[in-house]
Parts: sequence; C-alpha cells; structure tokens
Amino acid sequence: MRAFNNLPIAVIDSGVGGLSVLDRLVKRFPYESFIYYGDNLFAPYGNKPLSAVKSRVFAITESLYKRGVKGLVIACNTVSTHFYNEIKNKYPFFVVPTVPPVIDGDGVYLACTSNTAKSEFVKTNYSGRVISFPCLAKTIEDNVFNLNNFNVLPYFSKLDKKVEVLVLGCTHYSFIESNIRTCLGLTTVDGYDTILLKVNYHLQKRNSYSNKNPKITFVGEAKSFNKKVFERVFCHAGGHKI
Ligand code: DGL
Repeated sequence: MRAFNNLPIAVIDSGVGGLSVLDRLVKRFPYESFIYYGDNLFAPYGNKPLSAVKSRVFAITESLYKRGVKGLVIACNTVSTHFYNEIKNKYPFFVVPTVPPVIDGDGVYLACTSNTAKSEFVKTNYSGRVISFPCLAKTIEDNVFNLNNFNVLPYFSKLDKKVEVLVLGCTHYSFIESNIRTCLGLTTVDGYDTILLKVNYHLQKRNSYSNKNPKITFVGEAKSFNKKVFERVFCHAGGHKI
C-alpha cells in the first residue's frame, strides 16, 4: 500500500499550458510527487484532427500507466472535453479533467481552442457565448519566455460582443491572464480550484496520500524545455526535488 501511495500523479497537456496546473498542484499537495508529460512537439491540440489528438493522448497515457502512476490530471481542456470519459473508463487510476467552470450570464464568455468549442460540453453550456482562438495557444507556447508585454488587444479588437467575464478554457491562456485583466479590464475565471478539490477527494477516498520525499519528474521529448519553463515562469517548486 505504501509503495502505491508513493507513486506520482501524472499531469499531461499538449505543451506548456499544463505547467500552470502543475504549479497549483505542487503548492496544494507539497508531499505528492508529480510526473509531467507535455506533448510540445505535436502542439497545438486545439486545431488538429481530433482522431490524431486522441491517438497521441492514449499513447502517452499508456506509457504513463506502464511507468506507474496513482492518478492522472488531464491539464488540457481540449483533451478533457473530448476524451475524459474514455480515458477514465480505460484505466484503473483516478482521472481528473480540466474543464471550464459553467457560469451563466450575458456578459460571460468562454475563451477556448477551436476543438474545445466543438465539444458537447461547450455546446451545451456556452451556446452563443464562445470565443475560440485557433492559434493563440501556439503563439503562447512559442513565446513563453516573452509574455510580460504580450499584446492581447489584436485578439479581441474585432469582437462585437460585450464581454465582462472571460472564462479561461485553455490552460495556455493562464500564462496571459494578467495581460487580459490589465489590457482589457476583464474579470477572468478558471477551473483550477475544482481540479485541486477533485484530486484531494480521490486521494482521501483511496487513503493514498504520499508520505515520501516529493519529486517532480519531466518526461517526453520536450522534458528539458518544460522543466526550464516551470522553473523560470513559476520560480519555485516548494519542497519538491526536480
Ligand atoms: N492547453 C490546452 C487546452 O487547455 C491545449 C492547447 C492547444 O494545444 O491547442 O486546451
């Protein structure tokens, strides 16, 4: 039982976006170990054929399963809104999705990738209130060390909608959250607190909290890049050994 409890929790995304989720997980669960897989070389997922995204994600999940993990956080809205149920039903470990919080209201809009916009989840909960960006995640991915002065205005200038609250439906957008707030004066919302609550629920339910020295491991072709981004952008890893 102790050996199982000390297995890491896997966190996956198409690239750097999920590092913003990893940051929150590390701060909330200082005794847990994490393993991060970013599929950066194949990113973005948001405008690729869903069949191609699916086969990447299942291959990555299978490799993490074989390595040994006690849970999986899908730190990607695109994957979560399309494949969460299939992944959850296939694997024995707990699976926590990243999905935008559902908030009603005329001025509340969801910002997300083109593929997330096509999902049943979004069609059901955000009909007529979606702003999809086909290339924004990739632009963030490619400029991740130079986002302090990133100009968000061109992305929103042609909108004829009165947006008051922007729900961030892509983990990459967290990297420009302060730019959105400052430049556009919008309130932003994400679903990260729900992820933390769900992970805690699963750890508690299975009595599988770790009691060993925590560690963060980066895997996949872009492991060095993701480690560098995590260290530079989020600056700390608490008591975790990286
Ligand atoms: N970060 C991902 C999401 O939350 C995917 C972005 C992309 O690769 O297009 O949707």
